[in-house]
Amino acid sequence: MEKINIVFLALILVLITPVHSKYYSESHPYEPVQLKKTHLRFYLHDILSGKNPKAVKIAGPNSTTTPPIGDKLTPFGTLRAIDDPLTEGPEITSRVIGNARGLYVSASQDKILTLVLCVDLGFTSGEFNGSSLSVFSRNPGTDKVRELAVVGGRKRFRYARGFVLVMGVYGNPYNGDAVLEYNVTVVHP
Ligand SMILES: *[C@@H]1O[C@H](CO)[C@@H](O)[C@H](O)[C@H]1NC(C)=O
Ligand SMILES: *[C@@H]1O[C@H](CO)[C@@H](O)[C@H](O)[C@H]1NC(C)=O
Ligand SMILES: *[C@@H]1O[C@H](CO)[C@@H](O)[C@H](O)[C@H]1NC(C)=O
Repeated sequence: MEKINIVFLALILVLITPVHSKYYSESHPYEPVQLKKTHLRFYLHDILSGKNPKAVKIAGPNSTTTPPIGDKLTPFGTLRAIDDPLTEGPEITSRVIGNARGLYVSASQDKILTLVLCVDLGFTSGEFNGSSLSVFSRNPGTDKVRELAVVGGRKRFRYARGFVLVMGVYGNPYNGDAVLEYNVTVVHP
């Protein structure tokens, strides 16, 4: 046991011995590449109800001390974590092609629900399997067609930018469940 400890200690010492390295930084001219424009359409299921909700509240206003402002189900200050399935068609039984992971916060003090999304749309099949799009945007609930900004992406979507047009397909005013059409346009290498 003792021996092992000494060997282990020696190993750690070797590992943390400073090497002569400097903070690395190097810049080159950026060489533009031909960009592609990609359209994608799929459906997002934001399910709050049932035994297996895909969106759960992780924080919110304390209604004892502050009267809830705005939307009844999602008052100002409500923060939810999501792992919403993305499907090929609008039905929940439709083939799952990815997931929307991240969070959204109810961020409007007026009567109109506005969510601010910080969400990664990840694809688990097809041409973009393993790649994802980063959405960071406000989402004004009452617009018939909402526009979200795509600010970046991973893997095949590195350097991506673009937008999503979101349309409600189904919404349950009692429990907040919603199915949304996501119509994405992105420019990427
Ligand atoms: C909400 O506020 C009340 C009054 O200050 C307090 O007693 C209660 O613990 C708070 N609830 C939460 C979840 O923080
Ligand atoms: C997507 O990629 C993962 C990881 O590379 C792989 O395991 C999986 O089979 C792929 N799925 C499809 C549908 O291509
Ligand atoms: C998706 O958005 C594009 C514009 O970005 C539009 O031309 C197209 O009609 C839309 N498709 C659907 C199905 O809404």
